[in-house]
Amino acid sequence: MRHFLTLADYTKDEILEILELAAKIKNETKNKNFKEYMPKQTLGMIFEKSSTRTRVSFETGIYQLGGIGLFLSSNDIQLGRGEPMSDTSRVISRMVDMVMIRTFEQSKLEEFAKYSKVPVINGLTNEYHPVQLMADYMTIQEAGLEKDLVVAYVGDGNNMAHSWLNMAAKLGFELRISTPKGYEVDENILNKALEDAKQSGAKISVGNDPKEAVKNATVVTTDTWVSMGQEDEKEQRLKDFDGYIVDNNMMKIASPKAIFLHCLPAYRGYEVSEEVMESEQSLIFQEAENRLHAQKGVMVWLDRQRNIAL
Ligand code: CP
Ligand code: NVA
Repeated sequence: MRHFLTLADYTKDEILEILELAAKIKNETKNKNFKEYMPKQTLGMIFEKSSTRTRVSFETGIYQLGGIGLFLSSNDIQLGRGEPMSDTSRVISRMVDMVMIRTFEQSKLEEFAKYSKVPVINGLTNEYHPVQLMADYMTIQEAGLEKDLVVAYVGDGNNMAHSWLNMAAKLGFELRISTPKGYEVDENILNKALEDAKQSGAKISVGNDPKEAVKNATVVTTDTWVSMGQEDEKEQRLKDFDGYIVDNNMMKIASPKAIFLHCLPAYRGYEVSEEVMESEQSLIFQEAENRLHAQKGVMVWLDRQRNIAL
């Protein structure tokens, strides 16, 4: 049985296989051909942080696959009152068929997975956001930009930056990350990506000059400067990220065919300008929709792996 905790646990072939499955199911869905790949299955969806896209896409996704989603907010379940992850996991995973969790430390997700009888999917942790990257890469494929792909990530060295590192390292494309000083990506995650890059041929660079990173890039992407749980640091962060806005001037340095991606929610006037958000180059809403399709691919793939293992 497999879990989906980080892309670092996946091979290039597996990632591409899931994306192929996702594209097939997207096409079927667009033709109103709702195949019940997971009939009567229940997806437990545990949220310790807020969400719009993750909640709606997983709940709709499992329903369209023939199952049902259970929204479990930590405000409502006993986890929020101190019941351990290990107990929560052993209880919930005896009743549902798959679990998605959005939580704080990756170690909490790993703890749940360790005790779970069913596949567990990372719906965002402080360290990673792998399902978002599946949707992002699906959008890149649809835009026809897979070949000679150069991604520039401008902003905070956060969960999104880390998942971009994982994806580039596995698939072998060029990734340039630019963060302000003091907001660099985690060193261990970077080193693991650099190690994997030796095999895949990925070109990975990190630095503090956003203009240098964006030069001729075919994808420009960013994320909020203040992630969930960092609200207390907001004032300082807004000062420290000065000059990191992705605006028209920044987009002009990129390749003329470049697209703009953002996992959303976006804060206009901070990490990205209104013009870039609303420009022709911005594929943010297609990207958001692809959360639904990419995650169906992940769920069906995990379900198949479990059936093979049984
Ligand atoms: N991008 C993303 O995960 O959005 P939500 O926080 O709304 O789920
Ligand atoms: N980095 C952001 C992503 C939100 C989808 C956060 O963790 O809050």
